[in-house]
Amino acid sequence: MNILLLNGPNLNLLGVREPGIYGTLTLSVIEERVRTLAEQLGVQLRAFQSNHEGALIDRLHESSEREHGVIFNPGAYTHYSIALRDAVAAIKVPVIEVHLSNVHARESFRHQSMIAPVARGQISGLGAIGYELALRALIDELQPQLGSANHASVARTNDTL
Ligand code: DQA
Repeated sequence: MNILLLNGPNLNLLGVREPGIYGTLTLSVIEERVRTLAEQLGVQLRAFQSNHEGALIDRLHESSEREHGVIFNPGAYTHYSIALRDAVAAIKVPVIEVHLSNVHARESFRHQSMIAPVARGQISGLGAIGYELALRALIDELQPQLGSANHASVARTNDTL
């Protein structure tokens, strides 16, 4: 099973960007944590970040061919990008929307998500662990569809924990 961890604008600045809101972990540390969990669960994680809407759209399109599910923090695009919403709606793989901060407890312009209605679900306000929870949710959903090979690899990993 392949999962894409996709991060949008300004998330490359995690660690230095408004740490009181977004925490002190850098994006590469977060990606490493999610990758480690993925490996423990027998899943391959690919990570991509871009500050550009078109690059995020292109990568979402690619994910239809390359991955089984997507964990997506669209950053500020969440709140106004109809193009990203259409890309999420267009692809067949499930997408879970993740936000580090609780967007519903912040400025009113962050309360609306263009992505949420077409996403499998949304995790908001739990910090970096939200990405790991999204990974677990995707695996839980996808494993029965992908058959026994993936079951076996997860079972083996769990046995050794
Ligand atoms: C964010 C929330 C967005 O409102 C903001 O523009 C971001 C980060 C989050 O992870 O909390 O860039 O997606």
